Amino acid sequence: MSQKRKILVTSALPYANGSIHMGHLVEYLQTDIWVRFQKLRGHDCTYVCASDAHGTPIMLKARELGVPPEQLTQQISEEFVRDFSEFGVDFDNYYTTHSPENEALVSEIFTALRDKGDIYTRSIEQAFDEKEGMFLPDRFVRGTCPRCKSEDQYGDACEVCGATYTPADLLDPISVLSGSTPIKRESEHYFFKLSEYEERLRSWIDEATLDKSVVAKLDEWFEAGLRDWDISRDAPYFGFRIPGTDDKYFYVWLDAPVGYLASFRNLCDRRDDLNFDDYWAADSDAEVYHFIGKDIMYFHTLFWPAVLAGSGFRTPTSVFAHGFLTVNGQKMSKSRGTFINARAYLDNLNPSFLRYYYAAKLGPTIEDIDLNLEDFIARVNSDLVGKLINIASRCAGFISKRFDGRLADRLPDKDLFAEFADASETIATHYEGREYSKAMRLIMALADKANRYIDDHKPWVMIKDENAVSDVQLVCTQGLNMFRSLMIYLSPVIPDVAADARQYLSEDRWNWHDATSPLLNATLPKFTPLLTRVEPDSVQRMVDQSREIAEVPETQTEDDTISIDDFMKIDLRIARVKKAEPVEGADKLLALTLDVGESETQVFAGIKAAYDHESLIDRHVVVVANLAPRKMRFGVSEGMVLAAGPGGEDIFLISPDDGAKPGMRVK
Ligand code: MSP
Ligand code: ZN
Repeated sequence: MSQKRKILVTSALPYANGSIHMGHLVEYLQTDIWVRFQKLRGHDCTYVCASDAHGTPIMLKARELGVPPEQLTQQISEEFVRDFSEFGVDFDNYYTTHSPENEALVSEIFTALRDKGDIYTRSIEQAFDEKEGMFLPDRFVRGTCPRCKSEDQYGDACEVCGATYTPADLLDPISVLSGSTPIKRESEHYFFKLSEYEERLRSWIDEATLDKSVVAKLDEWFEAGLRDWDISRDAPYFGFRIPGTDDKYFYVWLDAPVGYLASFRNLCDRRDDLNFDDYWAADSDAEVYHFIGKDIMYFHTLFWPAVLAGSGFRTPTSVFAHGFLTVNGQKMSKSRGTFINARAYLDNLNPSFLRYYYAAKLGPTIEDIDLNLEDFIARVNSDLVGKLINIASRCAGFISKRFDGRLADRLPDKDLFAEFADASETIATHYEGREYSKAMRLIMALADKANRYIDDHKPWVMIKDENAVSDVQLVCTQGLNMFRSLMIYLSPVIPDVAADARQYLSEDRWNWHDATSPLLNATLPKFTPLLTRVEPDSVQRMVDQSREIAEVPETQTEDDTISIDDFMKIDLRIARVKKAEPVEGADKLLALTLDVGESETQVFAGIKAAYDHESLIDRHVVVVANLAPRKMRFGVSEGMVLAAGPGGEDIFLISPDDGAKPGMRVK
């Protein structure tokens, strides 16, 4: 057997101000499968995580709820831990970034960087809310886009024309917190000299053997030039105070990744067999891997290795980034019921199903993955129930009823079993390279082979022939051994099902190599089915439940009334989407060509984050048809499509009921 590796693995630390949803689970399940695989192979693999407890959104959410942020994040963490554990995500430690270990490490790192000359201070101007007495992060300022003059845009980018800017550039800015007009105010900030680390980072990138898709992104960033990083925030802030200051805090993104170290240190303090420095000293020979989503690559592939290197720690062996989850081909949506929380899933479906489904879809790139609910039902039923479990169901009854549960003392078809054993290293290579979909395909191809073997031998026919009865024991022993090997290979993915299978086979534990030698002569108990089919009704219930939880934001104001005449001035029409295309150079826009009965209208709509453009074709929408045309960078927009929601992924087109035809007036 190959040498025992020392491996430390992390998943990104989820913000403790919401619920775990299907998108998060892509990451935690992907990581958990990899960790379980390493452990099954006999390596020393440790998996740590924590809640990301700091930052402005969490501080404000706690304020809104009237609880201290410590209490909010602790409650939410408890919910996370329950969700994760029911999904079988088996952390060796789950901690929080708001911990003494983290504060000590952050301070140690900051001091090391400062002593080295990598930290400097500089005064910057920012939006300040006088009513609330605080500086406003970009997302907390809204106003009119300086370029296209669209109203109510975020402080960092316009969702209509795609312009990017700073809150200071907005026309008529208002603070989302108080509704007051922010002023500009100067304050001193701490900066980390990322720009000094270009060479160091380039060589790290070579060593870290990152996926091609990640390297491509990094090349873009290097091209744009590395800028120094603002690592401080002014009070009030929920975070760690910067040593030697009264009112400056570390930006949440500085202490969050340090939370990986802190969670590990907290574990080391409880475990005699783990030593912090073995894993984190500059000369460590252990392996460290971070699993993350593609949205946080900049932090993990630039800031983080630079901070580690600069403060005398080792850098990560690699960073594994995955893509984003879509549901039924679209961004998750509360109104469609596809914004599915972990709890809504767990209330209705078996976690093993999702674990298998994600594994069947996951690869090592940052390509997005789709949870198509119909495909989910079909895939799980056909692969897990129809192919895999079926192998055991078809053999186990004969063994228990006709042979007192006893397996034969040899395999009748050793060559066939050898095929299953020989697949071991290929499957292992796929897991190691996070090519789970390839591993699942190979395993299911073997399951097909096992079923074919049983079909060919027909034990249910043989059993009726006095002279062939003992052959039935052989055939079923062969069948159950093929099933056993596949279950061992699948145990990182569906650990609960595998544990039940192992118990049925009366074995105490499995390691990876057990799959290559057969189980003979054993006495087995009565077999009970290990999984039942996914019922489409359960999936529907989950979707309905998710739609119910979705909160509808209240935005009505009382004093802004308009007269009926004002309203009648608006020419609202039913339109059919004839064409929908992304707009080059605009991240958030789709160009829509609308059929409005007699005429055609071109509209740029800021809905790209919420809708897959192809899905819009032929859809009926409501359009403001008499809006004065506006010239935009990409062309002229001749109307406006009605939609509701706060924006981004959460924007929902208003659609008419069936029967409304393009051109009809809405009244
Ligand atoms: N707190 C930061 C991470 C700090 S790590 C030092 C954060 N938290 S998060 O809760 O927003 O996201 C946690 C992880 O879940 C991230 O890796 C993120 O990419 C991933 N996902 C969140 N939504 C996702 C999808 N819809 N699809 C796939 N992964 C997604 O970022
Ligand atoms: Zn604009």
